[in-house]
Amino acid sequence: MKIDGIWHRSVRVDAQDGWSIRILDQTRLPWQVEWLRLTDENDVAHAIRAMQTRGAPLIGATAAYGVALAMRRDPAALEPVCAMLAETRPTAINLRWAIERMLAALRNLPPADRAAAAYAEAAAIADDDAATCEAIGRHGLPLIEEVAARKPGKPVKVLTHCNAGWLATVDWGTALAPIYMAHDAGIPVHVWVDETRPRNQGAALTAFELGAHGVPHTVVADNAGGHLMQHGEVDLVIVGTDRVTRTGDVANKIGTYLKALAAADNGVPFWVALPHSTLDMRVADGVAEIPIEERSQAEVTDLTGRTADGRIETIRVVAGGSPAANPAFDVTPARLVTGLITERGRIPATAEAIAAMYPEKA
Ligand code: MRU
Repeated sequence: MKIDGIWHRSVRVDAQDGWSIRILDQTRLPWQVEWLRLTDENDVAHAIRAMQTRGAPLIGATAAYGVALAMRRDPAALEPVCAMLAETRPTAINLRWAIERMLAALRNLPPADRAAAAYAEAAAIADDDAATCEAIGRHGLPLIEEVAARKPGKPVKVLTHCNAGWLATVDWGTALAPIYMAHDAGIPVHVWVDETRPRNQGAALTAFELGAHGVPHTVVADNAGGHLMQHGEVDLVIVGTDRVTRTGDVANKIGTYLKALAAADNGVPFWVALPHSTLDMRVADGVAEIPIEERSQAEVTDLTGRTADGRIETIRVVAGGSPAANPAFDVTPARLVTGLITERGRIPATAEAIAAMYPEKA
């Protein structure tokens, strides 16, 4: 990803000290680009819980670096540190996948060797995520090319929900990777960006990164998608995901299911982009089995923005005394998913296709 012409990854080791971890504080975006310095596992846990860093693949990679930071201080604390980090957010399976990978790499090493091995494994996880997302982009690109071929000279209109771009991964993104590649290849693309209440990941983050890359886009209220589809304004929907079951059910940011219903009613293809680390082969029924994070009421009752004179302020928009509920994710059943875009290719969202694509996980 490029910000102001400089190439960055969303999580990295500090270039000056060679050991602390830098993340972009996503709670300050789009108003301020601020790189936070994390120095221990508690900093990392706080950053994940407070959503300074977020997005399924990115919290996995950041948690892996959290294990590395902990191993510098106390290599005997591997198991409790991993247990603590794994509990920071419940829905995205990438977090647990990354922690299990760290445990497998470190558990049998003598404590004195664990810190160096932990940094190496965390770097491997980050490199894997960047390469995986790039491959997702290559496999998703033909979907956009096919639409472009049917309407020469006109933009391909893609709707996306939440943020599944480079801010949610180590680089490239999942749902946005094919869009970036299409734009870079000169294909006219226009992205409808769902604002994604309550935390506005679309309005604050997806719009920010599409703008930084020069991709034409328009932010819409979450409720606008069905109307746009009815009027032929959406050629395809591409979203990311926090967990995909072995049967192809898809957990993603709250509101994704409603977009899938509207897409099915209007014959609009609904694609889900995911890396291998998002597959949870232990779960069959997403609606019944995937834990849905319940976040603070304040995310619903309050809005944060920048005032005309540059201050960042939070205001309440719900009448005093009214309680709020805040389920952060929902599950889209596989029957509503046109297909999955993976780093190995595109497949139907079915148990058979997933098992055939990932035989080592089956
Ligand atoms: O609660 P968040 O912002 O971490 O949720 C993120 C999403 O739902 C993303 O769309 C999903 O993680 C896919 S990330 C490539």
